[in-house]
Amino acid sequence: MFDVAKVRSQFPILSREVNGKPLVYLDNAATTQKPQCVIDSLVEYYTQYNSNVHRGAHALADQATRSYEGARESIARFLNAQSSCEVIWTAGTTEGLNIIARGMSQQLDAGDEIIVSELEHHANLVPWQQACKYAGATLKIAPIDENGALDVDAFAALLTERTRLVSIAHISNALGTINPIKTLATLIKANRSDTLFVVDGAQGIAHGDVDVQALGCDFYAFSGHKVFGPTGVGVLWGKESILKDWPVWQTGGEMIQSVTYQDATWNVLPGRLEAGTPNIADAIALGTAIEWLATQDLEGMRLHEHALIERAHELSATIDGMRVFGRAPERIGVLSFTLSEGHPADVGFLLDKQGIAIRTGSHCAEPLMGRFGVTATARASFSIYNTLDDVDALFEGIKKAQRMLG
Ligand SMILES: Cc1ncc(COP(=O)(O)O)c(C=O)c1O
Repeated sequence: MFDVAKVRSQFPILSREVNGKPLVYLDNAATTQKPQCVIDSLVEYYTQYNSNVHRGAHALADQATRSYEGARESIARFLNAQSSCEVIWTAGTTEGLNIIARGMSQQLDAGDEIIVSELEHHANLVPWQQACKYAGATLKIAPIDENGALDVDAFAALLTERTRLVSIAHISNALGTINPIKTLATLIKANRSDTLFVVDGAQGIAHGDVDVQALGCDFYAFSGHKVFGPTGVGVLWGKESILKDWPVWQTGGEMIQSVTYQDATWNVLPGRLEAGTPNIADAIALGTAIEWLATQDLEGMRLHEHALIERAHELSATIDGMRVFGRAPERIGVLSFTLSEGHPADVGFLLDKQGIAIRTGSHCAEPLMGRFGVTATARASFSIYNTLDDVDALFEGIKKAQRMLG
């Protein structure tokens, strides 16, 4: 039996009040809360061994380097990467995707094609638009159906001899749809074995095991803050065979092998893609977050989150004037909705007054909102520590908001 109370007790923020009410935190797709061990990891670094990595000749630098590289190894294990040199530290998903898009723009020819889907976050759309503009390539958009599920047949029909790269979200932040990554990988590689397959793992990473080898992709990018770790740090995983020659994107210290006044040669992985002093404390704390997640009952977590979203869908059917976006058969705990009584921003405001934190707006997915004929939705997103009581509180809050708006 999944013990949600035990999980909750490890997140100090969950016991605070907001606007005089117990906090009901339902904005997990925007950012997750942090368990005490992650907070302790940051404090320990700064109070016990704050130092630069890879270059110091003293005990603190040695401890920092071991913890920092240990975190990389923890993440490589969690992802089932073939080697820890495939784990590149970034500032987050956005940076990871931009590293690939920037490098790709140098490799595309006019007339080449990139495919994304209709449900992408701007971070997995705009970089590819820019790469295509730079190279004269074409961006194709794979459609979703009314429930927010990817139309796999339509996706397959978009693959051609010119498809150089596909980039798809593992899970949609706005609809909660889980995309069939393995199926897509099979289709992509059967069409052309050297087409690169990038997965935007910003939402995928916190909702189950991510085995990059089993998924069959070439790159997987995620952010620390969406998986119980700190902001400002993330990971770009890529196959060593591809990353080892990937165009360098920042130059300077750490990423070089040797330098003359006229020229320089590049370091081996992972250093060649990590210029300058890294975000040491946050990388170490992200390692702690991933180790923490790895010790949780991941199957229990999935079932628990499924029960939360099922309850939310059940209750939504009892609310007049509530429109729910995203009913794909495979989905996580994201409830995107509008109320006929008022704008999502007003709904968010009134819920906040009751201590309930949700997100409102376009969720950085403006074209997707347009696809459904709206400019914004309200979004409640659940995580491992949410309870059925939280879902009930949300719906009590929604009914109250309706009365106030109506
Ligand atoms: C699906 C998806 N992709 C990319 C991102 C961008 O992540 P970050 O802002 O942490 O770089 C997000 C953030 O919400 C997301 O949900």
